Amino acid sequence: MSKKVFERLPKSVLPSHYDLELKPNLEAFTFEGNTTVKVKINDSTNTIVLNALDLIISKIVVTTNSTNEKFETKTVSHSPENETVSLVFKEDLPVGDATLYMEFKGELNDKMKGFYRSKYFTQSGEERYAGVTQFEATDARRCFPCWDEPAIKATFDITLVVPEDRVALSNMPVVKEESIGANLRRIRFDRTPIMSTYLVAVVVGEYDYVEGKSEDGIIVRVFTPVGRKEQGLFALEVATKVLPYYKSYFNIAYPLPKMDLIAISDFSAGAMENWGLVTYRETFVLVDPENTSLMRKQSIALTVGHEIAHQWFGNLVTMEWWTHLWLNEGYASFVEFLCVNHLFPEYDIWTQFVTDMYTRALELDSLKNSHPIEVPVGHPSEIDEIFDEISYNKGASVIRMLHHYIGDEDFRKGMNIYLTRHQYKNTSTEDLWTALQEASSKPVAEVMSSWIKLKGFPVVSVDSVQKGTQRVLKLSQNKFTADGSKPDGDYKWVIPITVSTSKDPLKIAKTFLLDKQEMEVTLDDVKETDWIKVNPGTVGYYRTSYSPKMLEQLMPAVKNMELPPLDRLGLIDDMFAMVQAGKASTSTVLALIDSYRNETNYTVWTAISNSLCNLQILVSHTPLAENFNRFGVKLYKPVAERLGWDSKEGENHLDTLLRSLVLARLVSFRCKETIADGKKRFKDHVDGVATLPADLRSTCYKAVLMDGDESTFQEMLKMYRSTELHEEQDRISRALGSIGDVKILRKVVDFAMSGEVRAQDAVFVVVAVAMNPKGRDMTWEYFKENYPKLLEQYQGGFLLVRLIKYLIENFASEEKALEVEEFFRTRDFPGTERTVSQSVETIRLNAAWLERDLKSLTEYLSKQ
Ligand code: BES
Ligand code: ZN
Repeated sequence: MSKKVFERLPKSVLPSHYDLELKPNLEAFTFEGNTTVKVKINDSTNTIVLNALDLIISKIVVTTNSTNEKFETKTVSHSPENETVSLVFKEDLPVGDATLYMEFKGELNDKMKGFYRSKYFTQSGEERYAGVTQFEATDARRCFPCWDEPAIKATFDITLVVPEDRVALSNMPVVKEESIGANLRRIRFDRTPIMSTYLVAVVVGEYDYVEGKSEDGIIVRVFTPVGRKEQGLFALEVATKVLPYYKSYFNIAYPLPKMDLIAISDFSAGAMENWGLVTYRETFVLVDPENTSLMRKQSIALTVGHEIAHQWFGNLVTMEWWTHLWLNEGYASFVEFLCVNHLFPEYDIWTQFVTDMYTRALELDSLKNSHPIEVPVGHPSEIDEIFDEISYNKGASVIRMLHHYIGDEDFRKGMNIYLTRHQYKNTSTEDLWTALQEASSKPVAEVMSSWIKLKGFPVVSVDSVQKGTQRVLKLSQNKFTADGSKPDGDYKWVIPITVSTSKDPLKIAKTFLLDKQEMEVTLDDVKETDWIKVNPGTVGYYRTSYSPKMLEQLMPAVKNMELPPLDRLGLIDDMFAMVQAGKASTSTVLALIDSYRNETNYTVWTAISNSLCNLQILVSHTPLAENFNRFGVKLYKPVAERLGWDSKEGENHLDTLLRSLVLARLVSFRCKETIADGKKRFKDHVDGVATLPADLRSTCYKAVLMDGDESTFQEMLKMYRSTELHEEQDRISRALGSIGDVKILRKVVDFAMSGEVRAQDAVFVVVAVAMNPKGRDMTWEYFKENYPKLLEQYQGGFLLVRLIKYLIENFASEEKALEVEEFFRTRDFPGTERTVSQSVETIRLNAAWLERDLKSLTEYLSKQ
């Protein structure tokens, strides 16, 4: 496909303020609106180009301020490809201040973009719709004609005309309300600060709310579905506490008088940081003490922390263009962990950062089809595509590395400089480096530039020789490639390296910058028998490859857990990556895992589980599945036995998470006893004998479904229909993917796509089926037959991208790689190009891995 030439809006006419009135019709699914925009005409021109999409614009008038002269349009031409409209006037508009008045109409669509309708049910079961906005990245233009670019900031006076009995919200508090007859109310909101269009929001619907006030005087409310306001209490607590925390962290107050959080029933992302009115998927904000798992609660805390971080980072200071999106998302993804660490120290959240963010970034970033953090983007479909693990996870990981490099104190100082200097304005990455450099007097720009501009990351190879009481480390860096091939160009990073030794595993023995291809570094006072660990805490965004002798010295320290958890984790994760790259054999790493049998740390087990899941998928293409399962059962049994099924009185957070993880893994390895226990507990649950704790439900549902038949499927559907809690519906519908019979799996797909499951969730149900080896081919065939419907439903967008990724990346043959490539090459799927290339690359990696290791793996597993 040819790349579209994309141009940003001309600067000849620019807005400074919008009066915006919107009147949604929640029954006809339409809306009307008008806007009066204060503009500055910088160059005399007869044309104003701005963004508009799927809008009918009527009545356009420009009035000049100085002469009060009115100008009318000669032509109004829409360009759907560029998502712009050109207003051509009969005469040239004179330079100076003017107002542009426009009336417009649109559809309250069902695509979860722009101004859309979100379905809900009243307590008596009646179906109704709310009107909701989602503008990021480029969909404000679907709601009102505007200059829809992040750097074109303006203030907004928003007015809503809504039915008398509906809640109406926007970024700012209400300043005026009046009944206007016909059962309607006109509500005027206070003026916003100067801000980007993608952060404007309104919601009109029926909600209850809980309210609190933060220590620093901000009114915080959490809006929930009617009758469920208690489910907002947890998020309310997090939000009220985090506002003063950020205020003191950044040393800048939150500039708005209120902060609303609202649960939206139809919502495509997880949450959206609209200034003063943060919207959430229900499952990302509502907590029902009986039915919400600890894992969910933890991610809700992270999500609330993330979106509120954006109020400073993103809303107050905004990226100049989407190329710098990572400044928003990477940064907020880092700060959410600061927030949760502050509020819930018992979560040990910084350790979880490594499996949640860091290793997932490395995995994607080792592909040839990865991209640098900073990437040129133009057209909206390209912009959508960079809301990915590189912007979020790699972004957060390199910020964490930098935070360690300059230290918290200077980091905070630098943040304050940056936010103060650029508040209400726009920035690029360099502005952040400048501020942090000023605060720390360290060469921040020089160190960070390689991490932002280069695709991928280095592998640092280390060898060492003992010289008396000294150890000389020999280090070299190369680009890490997932397939072990030579890098596709010259790559050199400036790597902040730290080292620890057995003398004090928690202390950093040495810090230096590896800024060349090769380097030697001497450690004093080290014995021949001491181990050396590079990258303690797994902070640096690189992998380490040790000489065999150094690795051998480290392994006992894993076994006796002398090495701290994040080091045990980093070591095994690096090893798995080397295996994938063909630098070590699968059987070697499986043997190494033996040293982790005594492991007690939740996050280390998560890392092992993630790697074994990848391997399990690979093995599902071979006759080795049963042997592999046996290996898995043997590995996870001891820790499962230690934890048992029932949580202990006052048990710590991480043991609860660990129980849920290992039991889930044991079920996936088809462990007979675990499955039997799971089925028994499920029966007790449905019989009302003993309620299953939310943390174990998924596992028990899967245990039941794996060997289930049509009647099990029907029973689960009944359960699905009897709950209104979104989280529980997700749990049930995704567990359906574990069914062992492909005919029933096909029915699961039909159920997912029937309209009964919300579009935002259906994708994940189909993904659950595709992840099951029995459903893999069937879902791909389904996709090939039904893609036009799916394209129409999701309009491109990241939900479709997600679906495509999981549908295809688990194949493992060249034949499939070619088939998938051909399918997408001959069809138009805008915004999925990079994901498809990445997934095809993964298919080939899988195929090569099997080819290389199948024989030795067969031998190893048959000995188990
Ligand atoms: N700004 C994003 C929301 C967003 C995502 C808008 C994609 C447009 C496209 C928001 O801050 C965000 O990052 N949400 C995350 C959840 C968060 C906890 C990581 C999301 O929606 O997945
Ligand atoms: Zn975000």
